[in-house]
Amino acid sequence: MASKKQGNGARQSNSDTRGAGRLAQQAAEGTLLYETKNPLPGETRARAIELLNHRLADCIDLQSQTKQAHWNVKGPHFIGLHELFDQIYEATEEYVDLIAERVVQLGGIAEGTVRVCAERSTLTEYPLVLSSGEEHVAALSDVLAQFSGKAREAIEELEDIGDPDSMDILTDVSRGVDKWLWFVEAHEQTRPASTESARSQR
Ligand SMILES: [Fe+2]
Repeated sequence: MASKKQGNGARQSNSDTRGAGRLAQQAAEGTLLYETKNPLPGETRARAIELLNHRLADCIDLQSQTKQAHWNVKGPHFIGLHELFDQIYEATEEYVDLIAERVVQLGGIAEGTVRVCAERSTLTEYPLVLSSGEEHVAALSDVLAQFSGKAREAIEELEDIGDPDSMDILTDVSRGVDKWLWFVEAHEQTRPASTESARSQR
């Protein structure tokens, strides 16, 4: 009897493995949705989940980059920047949670492992050799601005597909990131750009 039970268990285990493999493949193809009473159409939810998971990868990357800056910054403005970068890290942790939980609310799977995010993030990789406050300010303001731009693109697409609540979440997040961009960038904005150069940037 014992061996028969083991046999059944082995068969069960194999079919579980195959089932998990199938689910993983569906998740990778973006076709896996949990049933939900959320009234948005399945097609809208699927596209919103895809958009949000990409911004989730960026946001987790951004979060780790702020900690990298917090740990390694040196120079005369050390304490101010060290503390500012940690504040941005804590705020970004909340943004990550907001985006990931919206994915799950829509019936999706929040794809937020370090390995997935490393492959998927669109942000510039943070150079490990940075040292001075100026270097960290330049690098972190770059990625904050990149994140903000990508969030806006996603907001526009979410408007097109009709998901105002996901738009609202990303608007909230991008508003916060814009504030942190100001806090970081103010360290290098010593004088306004001339009207001429501001015009040429338009
Ligand atoms: Fe710390």
